[in-house]
Amino acid sequence: MVENSGMDIRDRKEDHVNLAITENVTISGVTNGFEDFEFVPTAIPDLDFDEISMESTFLGQKFSAPIMVAGMTGGYPKAKEINNKLARVCAKIGIPMGIGSQRAMIVRPETLDTFAVKKEVPDVFLVGNLGLVQFSYDFTMDQYHEAQEKVQADAMAVHVNSFQELCQPEGDLNWKGSWKNLEKICKHSKVPVIVKEVGTGIAYEEVLQLSKIGCNAVDVGGAGGTSWPKLELFRNTKDDALDLNDETLKWGIPTAFATWEASQVKDIEIISTGGMYHGLMAAKALAMGASMVGIARPVLKSLIEFGERGAEKWLKHYILNIKRVMFLLGVQSVDELKMQKQRLIPLRKAREWLSYRKFL
Ligand SMILES: Cc1cc2nc3c(=O)[nH]c(=O)nc-3n(C[C@H](O)[C@H](O)[C@H](O)COP(=O)(O)O)c2cc1C
Repeated sequence: MVENSGMDIRDRKEDHVNLAITENVTISGVTNGFEDFEFVPTAIPDLDFDEISMESTFLGQKFSAPIMVAGMTGGYPKAKEINNKLARVCAKIGIPMGIGSQRAMIVRPETLDTFAVKKEVPDVFLVGNLGLVQFSYDFTMDQYHEAQEKVQADAMAVHVNSFQELCQPEGDLNWKGSWKNLEKICKHSKVPVIVKEVGTGIAYEEVLQLSKIGCNAVDVGGAGGTSWPKLELFRNTKDDALDLNDETLKWGIPTAFATWEASQVKDIEIISTGGMYHGLMAAKALAMGASMVGIARPVLKSLIEFGERGAEKWLKHYILNIKRVMFLLGVQSVDELKMQKQRLIPLRKAREWLSYRKFL
């Protein structure tokens, strides 16, 4: 294993937040694919806009809207402030939030309070976070339980990020035993398990396998939003690192296609994350069958630039925009929106992709 000291992880997590805010961490020409789907509208909506309900259910819990803040940070002093602010905003709105990888907390237990937002905000629905690859090295189920219990996570996200690790100067590349480790996690976890990609998407075949081993939800984490490989390459000064070049970083399933692929699998809930910049994209993901839409960098940016009220305003506006699309579709509830897949027309690349994969 490339042994990282606690200090290295702390620096890395701080770098991630700074780079995500200051650099262009998207890939030019790569989109999340939702522009290749169009809704058939309703010209005569037989409903009252004010009666449209945004309430939604995820992992058996009710939320005020079908969106969540995807896991980002923890492990260094400023992260405590960021996570606590995000927790207050999410609890106020009534939506779930994720924290960043708790590996830092396992290596340096004194960083617990940078993740443990429930101490200040007990009502927030909290999704914990650990990286699957760590279980191919030295992480144990006891550490998994410890990570979940110490922050009182209501669900645990296990992130899979092979492309990111490949581009990270200190990346972990021995992924042997990953499926066995996942099976163990799904079997023994005391809370629902979400397997979470971070920007290259998860294909139908793997989602099917995840549902078979008892995984509760999949965050498809598709291409088209924040590019982790690109973000890591800003930090990578090794001579033989992959080129920090948008052409070499074009890799992965766009979020829209990954969401559609995942929707072919029954018995697993879907979170659609990756470049979900506005409500129209979110409405399309929900119509495909997603239970939640995950948003990371745009919320972080609004929080850092405009504070807690800015992030709250941004999220509320986003929810309002989903509601506006629902009005134009003539649907009254999120459950009804989730049954509108037949009204999404796949165009261009979406049509090619989905036809070739025999999903049309
Ligand atoms: C600053 C930052 C840190 C992140 N750290 C983590 C992490 O520790 N664990 C994880 O699973 N995902 C992490 N992510 C990935 C996000 O959860 C999300 O999958 C990705 O950024 C795509 O969403 P976006 O396009 O809305 O940013 C991080 C994202 C950002 C922007």
